[in-house]
Amino acid sequence: MKPVKVGLLGLGTVGGGTLKVLSRNAQEISRRAGCDIEVVIAAARDINKPRICDVEGIALTTNPQDVVEHPDVKVVVELIGGEDLARDLVMKAIANGKHVVTANKALIAKHGNEIFAEAQKNGVMVAFEAAVAGGIPIIKAIREGLAGNHVEWLAGIINGTGNFILTEMRDKGRDFADVLAEAQSLGYAEADPTFDVEGIDAAHKLTILASIAFGIPLQFEKVFTEGISNITQEDMSYAEQLGYRIKHLGLARKTAQGVELRVHPTLIPERRLIANVDGVMNAVLVNGDAVGPTLYYGAGAGAEPTASAVVADIVDVVRTLTSDPENRVPHLAFQANSLSDIPILPMGKVETAYYLRMQAEDKPGVLADVTRILGELGISIEALVQKEPSGDAQMATVIMLTHRVLEENMNEAIQKIEALSTITGNVMRIRMEHLS
Ligand code: HSE
Repeated sequence: MKPVKVGLLGLGTVGGGTLKVLSRNAQEISRRAGCDIEVVIAAARDINKPRICDVEGIALTTNPQDVVEHPDVKVVVELIGGEDLARDLVMKAIANGKHVVTANKALIAKHGNEIFAEAQKNGVMVAFEAAVAGGIPIIKAIREGLAGNHVEWLAGIINGTGNFILTEMRDKGRDFADVLAEAQSLGYAEADPTFDVEGIDAAHKLTILASIAFGIPLQFEKVFTEGISNITQEDMSYAEQLGYRIKHLGLARKTAQGVELRVHPTLIPERRLIANVDGVMNAVLVNGDAVGPTLYYGAGAGAEPTASAVVADIVDVVRTLTSDPENRVPHLAFQANSLSDIPILPMGKVETAYYLRMQAEDKPGVLADVTRILGELGISIEALVQKEPSGDAQMATVIMLTHRVLEENMNEAIQKIEALSTITGNVMRIRMEHLS
């Protein structure tokens, strides 16, 4: 078979990594795909920029339309990121009958329903393994490897930058801003780093994982998202003293009432493997009814780890060119006409346990008031620690761990506790999951 010709949109970190991997492993990749893969054209903003990869023999252009309209290109690889331009280019490539491989999580999370419908109409594939957890083949694992299971829940550390920040703060006592700057210089952070820190990037990825796990349409706008910028060294240290680690988790759970979709800092028992995933590494824990818990771990960002997933998708697409296209794996794992409209639960209806930290006057009756409020709302306390006031301070730090309760009850309890004259400032709340 003649080589399959590929066009690249974007020659940045991941584009460069993709060219390097394609060239270094060309022979093995060709043996797997059934034919050679040849990148014939690449679009970049600045075609004269020094590159980490060899671009000899590749036509370089600043006009991305040249790629999606190239008559010989069978597969367009979109690595420019962002939403609007990427969406237009991908839709045009599909309309031109080209298969698409993308690493763009925002694109899939927000426009995937429309893109997949168009792809189905035009009989082309859209592959997006690199959009979630970089080099970890998590899409393939859930979509194909776990296809026999009813997936009950999944939980993931799916933003490397955020995990790097939390790890450095915990291990080295480093400052939040300082660690973020390092993640940016290492090329892990998003163009807008608030996407990492505020959980938007993780919410994009969770949207995709939940759709594939539960067979529901992509619904990014319904994900509850809370970032890590309020997490203090103090909370990390109290959590540790109680046997927990704080991780920024994406969680999706199917309950009888609907689907929970949430990204927030979470206390996890330190003995869980996922609690020990540190630095920029990612991990996704998937619980299937047949298989039980399964854990997928690896690099979630970076040039070659992400390229590993991009190239695997190119190979998948090329393989289908020689096989029966009717037998393709559906984009969202379930057949497009059998997605379920099970509701996504509002955050108030989500049930979870909590870590609470508050500043209380150090005098009789204060704790009794707090526990009365919790008790009246059906909130049961699992552990309670009071730290002695230091020096002349009259305020003591109180830390509580609760059993599981509806978020709307906890909201009411926190409001009432904060209104007590003996409590100063806001109550710090971090959700807690045992993941067992
Ligand atoms: N900014 C992302 C992260 C890159 O830190 O995980 C990979 O999606």
